Amino acid sequence: MRRASLLSPLLAAAAAVVVAVVSAEPASTLSGPSRPVTVPLGDRGHAVDLPDTDPRVQRRVKGWAPEQIAVALSAEPTSAWVSWITGDFQMGGAVKPLDPSTVGSVVRYGRAADSLLQEAAGESLVYSQLYPFEGLQNYTSGIIHHVRLQGLEPGTKYYYQCGDPAIPDAMSDVHAFQTMPAVGPKSYPGKIAVVGDLGLTYNTTSTVEHMVRNQPDLVLLLGDVCYANLYLTNGTGADCYSCTFAKSTPIHETYQPRWDYWGRYMEPVTSTIPMMVVEGNHEIEEQIHNKTFASYSSRFAFPSEESGSLSPFYYSFDVGGIHFIMLASYADYKKSGEQYRWLEKDLAKVDRSVTPWVIAGWHAPWYTTYKAHYREAECMRVEMEELLYSYGVDKMATSHADEAGHCPDPASTPDPFMGGFCASNLTSGPAAGSFCWDRQPEYSAYRESSFGHGILEVKNETHALWRWHRNQDLYNTVGDEVHIVREPHKCLIDSTRLAY
Ligand SMILES: *[C@@H]1O[C@H](CO)[C@@H](O)[C@H](O)[C@H]1NC(C)=O
Ligand SMILES: *[C@@H]1O[C@H](CO)[C@@H](O)[C@H](O)[C@H]1NC(C)=O
Ligand SMILES: *[C@@H]1O[C@H](CO)[C@@H](O)[C@H](O)[C@H]1NC(C)=O
Ligand SMILES: *[C@@H]1O[C@H](CO)[C@@H](O)[C@H](O)[C@H]1NC(C)=O
Ligand SMILES: *[C@@H]1O[C@H](CO)[C@@H](O)[C@H](O)[C@H]1NC(C)=O
Ligand SMILES: *[C@@H]1O[C@H](CO)[C@@H](O)[C@H](O)[C@H]1NC(C)=O
Ligand SMILES: [Fe+2]
Repeated sequence: MRRASLLSPLLAAAAAVVVAVVSAEPASTLSGPSRPVTVPLGDRGHAVDLPDTDPRVQRRVKGWAPEQIAVALSAEPTSAWVSWITGDFQMGGAVKPLDPSTVGSVVRYGRAADSLLQEAAGESLVYSQLYPFEGLQNYTSGIIHHVRLQGLEPGTKYYYQCGDPAIPDAMSDVHAFQTMPAVGPKSYPGKIAVVGDLGLTYNTTSTVEHMVRNQPDLVLLLGDVCYANLYLTNGTGADCYSCTFAKSTPIHETYQPRWDYWGRYMEPVTSTIPMMVVEGNHEIEEQIHNKTFASYSSRFAFPSEESGSLSPFYYSFDVGGIHFIMLASYADYKKSGEQYRWLEKDLAKVDRSVTPWVIAGWHAPWYTTYKAHYREAECMRVEMEELLYSYGVDKMATSHADEAGHCPDPASTPDPFMGGFCASNLTSGPAAGSFCWDRQPEYSAYRESSFGHGILEVKNETHALWRWHRNQDLYNTVGDEVHIVREPHKCLIDSTRLAY
């Protein structure tokens, strides 16, 4: 510890020099279009998962003590969710779900660590992942608790303890988190970290360590959380989704304990920094009775009810002068569907004089040049893009890492969960042309294939700074950066909608 803090000023100084040499002034969206840049593909190496023997993924609590503690935002900064798990999961043959009412769901909180005088109660649940096939094992979770704290002061540090005060040794240690700044055009959080396709590999630990060094106030996790579906139910891992599966069983296996490993590894981050999650393809996780997304829907708290969506797959929330919208790539996004209707209503409610910024996030990118996911989300883009433009959404963020490569056959069938293939004509539309890694489309300014995290800093009503931090760089070194400048007076696509 002491050695690290001695070293850090040196690292910071070295980082500053590197940045100064590369570019004195970050590029700005005002000065485009810039010359497209493709950084040559580096050696991505082989991402190795943390094994179940790693102390960071093992159960560290006893009895009914809480673990995997996480904080999420509600729709407003005056409210927040605290989630945790009590009791251990079971994996094997005759698994018997725990009774969620065995352990209460209580959070004690306050503005000083030694006076947690406020108390909130919530609800609990368990979920199971069942495979009715010879030779496969079943899973049932520990008891998952979600408690919503209300009446919080914005921009304030709260200390809390969660658990069941009626059971001995069933309350957690004291943790603390900071509520988001009050909703309004003049207040913004310091740093918002954006990650996706996180997983639980040694590269994940590098990404998370770099991210924590940047001290974010909020983390957005845009899908593909722990990749439990790269495992057989007997705990054997595979190198890729299709490698060793689906030979003998009609549905794809998962090893759900990976979720618990992930929750434990992430607890130091998630118990102190609010994290908002939206689903990716690796969260689908089919099981008995065509059930999907059981783990994702059960483990995380979402401001779904608070934002009127009633779905864990899409929701919105306000942070200072930013209205965030999280969208579902893997739920119905057709114009006739519920998600679209909710999005229309949600956008119509936004008052840009209160939240000048509208930022949308989801998993599957509409504009990508990666081979495996090339135009995979085209159906979603076709349905939703115009609506987002018409309301002047400022920024979108997506995820979905994969191999870079040459263009695949446009007629090849992607994941059926993506709603079919809508990119039948490669000569029209904004994503037209024959490109992929071998040719950079005009919508792409900068391509770089490292692992890393993004940091978004919204400065005021018009200016935000986006920075890309790569794992192979020193802490605080910036791999790429751009000023995002809103020009609301120029971007009134639909003049009947005031998007200033
Ligand atoms: C992933 O981590 C390994 C070492 O654990 C490293 O060799 C490799 O370069 C990393 N990959 C990327 C893309 O950073
Ligand atoms: C897992 O659960 C399913 C559904 O209840 C059942 O059909 C199957 O036999 C169980 N597997 C084992 C190994 O007990
Ligand atoms: C898990 O199942 C696979 C496929 O049947 C097998 O190859 C592997 O050896 C098994 N692993 C263990 C730990 O039983
Ligand atoms: C599950 O999905 C398959 C394929 O889409 C379908 O044939 C089957 O009827 C479904 N089963 C249930 C229980 O809904
Ligand atoms: C594909 O796009 C081109 C250029 O916009 C257009 O001329 C052509 O008719 C389109 N083909 C189909 C099948 O839509
Ligand atoms: C907004 O922030 C940018 C970058 O920090 C600054 O250049 C600009 O003057 C600010 N604008 C206002 C209206 O404060
Ligand atoms: Fe993905």
